[in-house]
Amino acid sequence: MSARIASVTGRQLWDSRGRPTVEAEVVLESGAVGRAIAPTGASRGAHEAIDLRDGGVAFGGFGVARAVAGIGAEIAGAIAGMDARDQAAVDKALCELDGTPNKARLGANAVVAVSMAVLHAAAAAARAPLWRYLAGGKAVRVPLPEIQIFGGGAHAGRRTDVQDFMVMCPKAGSFRRALEITDDVYRAAGRLMEAKGPLSGVADEGGWWPNFASNEDALDTLTRAIEASGHRAGEDVFISLDIAANELGDASGYSLALDEGRLTSEEMGARIVEWAGRYPILSIEDPAGQDDWAIGDKVQIIGDDVLVTSAGRVERAGEAGVCNAALIKVNQVGTVTEAKAALDAAVTRGWGAIVSARSGESEDVTIAHLATGWDAGQLKVGSFTRSERMAKWNEMLRIEEAMGADAVFAGASAFAAPVAATLA
Ligand code: PGA
Ligand code: ZN
Repeated sequence: MSARIASVTGRQLWDSRGRPTVEAEVVLESGAVGRAIAPTGASRGAHEAIDLRDGGVAFGGFGVARAVAGIGAEIAGAIAGMDARDQAAVDKALCELDGTPNKARLGANAVVAVSMAVLHAAAAAARAPLWRYLAGGKAVRVPLPEIQIFGGGAHAGRRTDVQDFMVMCPKAGSFRRALEITDDVYRAAGRLMEAKGPLSGVADEGGWWPNFASNEDALDTLTRAIEASGHRAGEDVFISLDIAANELGDASGYSLALDEGRLTSEEMGARIVEWAGRYPILSIEDPAGQDDWAIGDKVQIIGDDVLVTSAGRVERAGEAGVCNAALIKVNQVGTVTEAKAALDAAVTRGWGAIVSARSGESEDVTIAHLATGWDAGQLKVGSFTRSERMAKWNEMLRIEEAMGADAVFAGASAFAAPVAATLA
């Protein structure tokens, strides 16, 4: 049956922060349909692909009328008639049509929505769930989830410097069990927060609002929450941090909102190394501009804002030895094909790979399928509340169930070999 693209439509929907976002809908000549919604980051890397926003006063400047218009006026004509199964050719056409290095003309929000919608349409044409279509008959693992307990940083008015305080359960044995353990920890953390004073709700990705006096206060509370949940910290449940250091630093060093004032790059690095020694920390994202990590091989060091889902940047970071894992966000680079290339570059180096949501999300569950079908090994979605997050976790439960007896939980195998060895 023909998988040729018949029509491409854009529309404005709303994201989890109540801001406009772009949905693309692709219909094939066969009648198969694919749809996808663009997510949006708040703590962005300097080299990310750029969303097209209308500016002005309407919707606080976040309108996407121009991005939607570009889908109808330009993108639809450029990819009509192409074979949706040839994702690389479609994405190449999108990049060439845009003509900028960072999707600034048509907007990464328009381009990513169309690129992912084409992928969904191709899977629909093959009458396969997206993860299975992507796996193409190869055995793939159920990813290890990385789940936020406290939000912070740019997602919580800078109430803590650290952006994400998360947990990982590499020994859970299944995705379902990892979520159950996380739920125990999340509730226990809520009780500890309640004991501190009136609960102040949740941050952008659903983690408890960070009502803390210092970053260490948050780390202490999270460690206590794990223990109070009935699970063992550093055995069943590990801590994972996203420092998002580029949000804290400039050429002169790092400014901490809660702790003591300003730190040099070396002091910031030493602080993080100290945390890794004191707390059951297994993974740290975007730590600081440090080349030499004294925590060495024991900890997963994830590049997010420093890699921006670019295969070239993964290569360069690999030479410099600054990370052992890459965060993969399709909208950070703009197309499915380019994101897959960054993931391949990471996996080829023996790194871990984490398919990730953004802080601005929707009910779109594409990333659950990408993490599974690409066999990334890890999935980062945000916290354990709010339906734009739960939609992804729930989709993973459906995928794990569909795999039945063949389901293999990535667990410790999700990490670069030296990190995995520490869990054996
Ligand atoms: P962002 O945050 O979507 O706001 O960039 C997510 C992250 O830093 O991992
Ligand atoms: Zn990050």
